[in-house]
Amino acid sequence: MSFVRACSVAEVPVGSAIGIDLGGDADIAVVNTEDGFFAIRDVCSHGEVPLSDGDIDGCTLECYMHGSRFDLRTGFPLELPATTRVPVYPVRVDGDHVFVDPDNPIDSQEQ
Ligand code: FES
Repeated sequence: MSFVRACSVAEVPVGSAIGIDLGGDADIAVVNTEDGFFAIRDVCSHGEVPLSDGDIDGCTLECYMHGSRFDLRTGFPLELPATTRVPVYPVRVDGDHVFVDPDNPIDSQEQ
């Protein structure tokens, strides 16, 4: 585990998402839902658009381009046209800060 600070809690109100450069090959979207914070690679698996610009509904994030919804807990698309999972990452909130572990996506930890 190598958690790094991604943002402050105040930067991401409930129902919003922001894309953050944590040094990887793509930004990571930090998403604040009614069920807490999630982190998902900030690139839709159907096209090269940022998921952080999409709409949040429960634990899902809908791509604004063609409407695929991704489960923020698993990264799996729940609706077409996307058919490929997007990596999701462990998130930890400590005080006013949100930490993400960009080096250990949850899907690789489950193998
Ligand atoms: S680019 Fe996201 S669903 Fe098509």
